[in-house]
Amino acid sequence: MRTQVVVIGGGPSGLLLSQLLHVHGIDSIVLERKTKDYVLGRIRAGVLEQGFVNLMEKAGVADRLHAEGFEHDGTLIAFDDDCFRIDFNAQTGTPVVIYGQTEVTRDLYEAREAAGGTLIFNTEDVTIHDADTDHPFVTYSVDGQEQRIDADFVAGCDGFHGVSRQAIPLSVRREYEKVYPFGWLGILSETPPVHDELIYSSSRRGFALCSMRNENLSRYYIQCSLSDSPDDWTDSAFWAELKRRIPKTFADHLVTGPSIEKSIAPLRSFVTEPMQWGRLFLCGDAAHIVPPTGAKGLNTASSDVYYLHNALRDYYDHGSRDGIDAYSQNALTRIWKAERFSWWFSSLMHRFPDQSEFDLKIQRAEIDFLRTNTAAQKAMAENYVGLPY
Ligand code: PHB
Repeated sequence: MRTQVVVIGGGPSGLLLSQLLHVHGIDSIVLERKTKDYVLGRIRAGVLEQGFVNLMEKAGVADRLHAEGFEHDGTLIAFDDDCFRIDFNAQTGTPVVIYGQTEVTRDLYEAREAAGGTLIFNTEDVTIHDADTDHPFVTYSVDGQEQRIDADFVAGCDGFHGVSRQAIPLSVRREYEKVYPFGWLGILSETPPVHDELIYSSSRRGFALCSMRNENLSRYYIQCSLSDSPDDWTDSAFWAELKRRIPKTFADHLVTGPSIEKSIAPLRSFVTEPMQWGRLFLCGDAAHIVPPTGAKGLNTASSDVYYLHNALRDYYDHGSRDGIDAYSQNALTRIWKAERFSWWFSSLMHRFPDQSEFDLKIQRAEIDFLRTNTAAQKAMAENYVGLPY
């Protein structure tokens, strides 16, 4: 087979890239290691920056997002029993949109299928060849049959555990990482959200987050030990702990119910440099991971997709290599700022096992500074709604 761009990974970044390329008349084939149902079964964050929404519009896939997503003009930050609001609209004029990543992925699959795009599932042994030449190709097998696709470019959108990053030789690849000494235990429940905006809560017992998907679907998280397993936590133990970690006014009217999903995610900051090697480009989790505290996972992937689809369009429309050559630099400049924000917000809100009394006082002072200082609120809001690209 031959195509212009082989996209490795059928998650939201690969699908969005493929759809945007299609809109610009550029052909791609998407390879996914799992099945579509598996990809759609993954629960991820649900906060979209305006920049991401704009890209979905450009890709012609924003109708359901506009109809069913909720604009949020602010968020609550709680510290023990105190609570204050950061007003995104007042600080930046821009809201965020609450719409689950799973729904984004569903919409993108639908669009790719409606456009007759080629998506190949259950691919094994995906291998990138000759990425540092003008004739890269990808081999893989499905049902034991080896296949080959020749292409102009390869986009590695296959996540943190994918093969794409590993295709960049260690002699040119540099990785930066910070692993946090705790995880997030999350549940999804068919209950009304405790509040109409998100609540990020720092408490003596650890961090908690109250989030949502819609009027009757809530997503809650609590900071947990890395040695915990979801089976250690009954629903009632989860609810009891969540109530202890959010201000009493919210705890008192929290509606609880059975969980329909429960999982633990570790927290990690990670960046690989460069994000391109020859004709291979990395996008999203394949190149970088953020802890979920700023809800930046999908939103950082989307700026990569933005830079890459523009670069490829310039290449095919005008024969210009400028965007392609600058891809890694452009993407990383924004990524490191999102990394900084996610690290900062995580450091501010969690309890760390080795935190001294001094560290706790500093953390409390910083939250109080955010509560009382408009410049600090503006900086937080600008980062939360998404830096420009
Ligand atoms: C979520 O709704 O799953 C969510 C929201 C905000 C975050 C992380 C996760 O910062």
